[in-house]
Amino acid sequence: MRSLSEENKAIENMFSEISSSYDRLNHLLSFGIDRLWRRRLIDKIPATSKKILDLATGTADVALEISKNFNALIVGADLSLSMLKIAKKKTGNNNIHLINAQAEYLPFANSSFDAITIAFGLRNIPKREQALKEMKRVLKKNGVLLILEFSHINNRLWRAIFEFYFLKILPFIGNKISNHKFAYNYLPQTVIKFPDVGVLSDILKNIGFSRVDYERILGGVAAIHCARI
Ligand SMILES: C[S@@+](CC[C@H](N)C(=O)[O-])C[C@H]1O[C@@H](n2cnc3c(N)ncnc32)[C@H](O)[C@@H]1O
Repeated sequence: MRSLSEENKAIENMFSEISSSYDRLNHLLSFGIDRLWRRRLIDKIPATSKKILDLATGTADVALEISKNFNALIVGADLSLSMLKIAKKKTGNNNIHLINAQAEYLPFANSSFDAITIAFGLRNIPKREQALKEMKRVLKKNGVLLILEFSHINNRLWRAIFEFYFLKILPFIGNKISNHKFAYNYLPQTVIKFPDVGVLSDILKNIGFSRVDYERILGGVAAIHCARI
C-alpha cells in the first residue's frame, strides 16, 4: 500500500487500537440498529451486480451481508490492517477478498465494479473528494455508489435528545469499554463536521455523479446516498 499521510496514520492507529472491541461496541451503542441500517444499504445494491467493492470495510459486516445475498465477487478494502485481521477471521474462506488500501488511492483499474458501498467510512476520510473521485473512476458505467453515513437531524427536540446521548453518554461508555482515551469523542466530532444531505448531494454531483438521491433514516440520524455514473 502507498505510504500513509500523517492524517491517515492517525486514523489508522485509532481504528487499530479499538479494533478488538469495535463490533461489540457498535452493536451495544446503537442498540443493534446498526445491523438494520447496513441491511437497508445492501437492499439498494442492484440485483445484477457481479463485482462489488465494500470500501472502509472495517470488520467486514457489510461485505459479509452482501456475500449472503449476492452471487458476486466481493472486495473489502480498508486502511487498517487490524480491522482487516478481524474481518479475515469472520469471513473465513468465502468469496470476500480483503485488501489493505486507502480510499484516496484505490488499487483497481478504471471501471472495475458494478457497485460500491461505504458504511460509516466516508466521514473519516480527510481527502473526501479525492476518495469520491477514485470511487467514480473504479465504477463501471451505470455503476452505483451507496454511502451510509451519520447525518443531521432537523427536528430540534429530537436533535437535543440525540445529541445528549451522542455527545455525553456514547463517548463515556465507548472510551471506557474500548480502553481508548478519545476514540469515542472523535466519533461525534466527525459527525458534526460531516456535510448535510443536500451538501453531500451537491459534492457528488460536482464530481460527476448523476441521479443522486438520498434517504434519511430515523429523522436524519443517518442517511443513505445513492449516486450513479
Ligand atoms: C467506523 S468504521 C466502519 C467500518 C464498517 N464499514 C462498518 O460498517 O462497521 C470506519 C472504517 O474506515 C476505515 N478508513 C478510514 N479512513 C480510511 C481510508 N482513507 N481508506 C480506507 N479505509 C479507511 C477505518 O480503518 C475503519 O475500519
